[in-house]
Amino acid sequence: MKKIELHLHLEGAAPPAFIRSLAKEKHIDIGKIFDEAGNYAFDDFWHFLKVYEAATSVLTRPEDYARLTRAVLEQSAESGVVYSECFLSPDFCGGRDLGAWREYLHAIRETADDAGRDTGVTLRGIVTCIRHFGPAKARETARCAAEAAGEFITGFGIAGDETAGKPADFAWSFDMAREAGLRLTAHAGEWGGPQSIRDCLRDLRVERLGHGVRAIEDLALVDELAEAGTVLEVCPGSNIALGLYPDWRAHPVRALYERGVTVTVSTDDPPFFHTTMQNEFDRLHAVFDGDDAVLDRINRNALDAAFCDADTKARIAKLLEPGHV
Ligand code: ADE
Ligand code: ZN
Repeated sequence: MKKIELHLHLEGAAPPAFIRSLAKEKHIDIGKIFDEAGNYAFDDFWHFLKVYEAATSVLTRPEDYARLTRAVLEQSAESGVVYSECFLSPDFCGGRDLGAWREYLHAIRETADDAGRDTGVTLRGIVTCIRHFGPAKARETARCAAEAAGEFITGFGIAGDETAGKPADFAWSFDMAREAGLRLTAHAGEWGGPQSIRDCLRDLRVERLGHGVRAIEDLALVDELAEAGTVLEVCPGSNIALGLYPDWRAHPVRALYERGVTVTVSTDDPPFFHTTMQNEFDRLHAVFDGDDAVLDRINRNALDAAFCDADTKARIAKLLEPGHV
């Protein structure tokens, strides 16, 4: 099955061996972020954020991001992904300096075009601020996003620690991105509950939510999301690996879908969570009792909710047609 992925952090998709070899090449000590088997090691979400930031510290040049982009697209293609939206953080790509950001973005985009031709994966970028870095840095990030808005950079979002600060602190950044023509998404309803989702929708006016799964704790909110057509970028493997739910059976993806919410499925940070898009879809198949029509619906929801232009969407839609090889 060809797949559409809407929620993937570019640095979070870096295989541990890739990060290890860059650290070695550059003699950078990134501490104990790997276990004995060589995988990323963390105890909980907040530790995960620290490990993530340590891993990104070896990505110091545009060419590192070029290599990473190619590796990630090859990885996505192995799972049958044909269209992917990935989060890019100017915090990590040049420390929010506009000139440096342009160079990083140029390298990423050029590789996305080349590797896109080789792998068949179309990539688009969503510029992302980091909530626990605070609103002042988010404003600088929004400036990077606004000036890059176009065919490749299609959206603006916020990731990081949802328990830090409040959405209203970031309204200026989201307003700036919206005025630049960017589409909007925000991580909410992962480590925050229903109120965090409500605050986000009210103050940031996003059309998609990263995760959003904890809406299930307030069925009136679930019905509002369904009614408004708010799209959830659900990442079950990530939620389970980080301990939000004990296993796939306890995960609310099916309950949300059955109550009418527009559900999509992605991997978030696949090597961190030992997952792939193929694995997410295999597990989903079991959760929905082998009903292929549901998987098809979830994939089409993702294409409908993609932030790319109409021509790109039409081209990708053709790839999903039955019989297309
Ligand atoms: N950044 C990378 N993965 C994330 C997640 N699952 N939640 C918040 N921020 C993130
Ligand atoms: Zn995420």
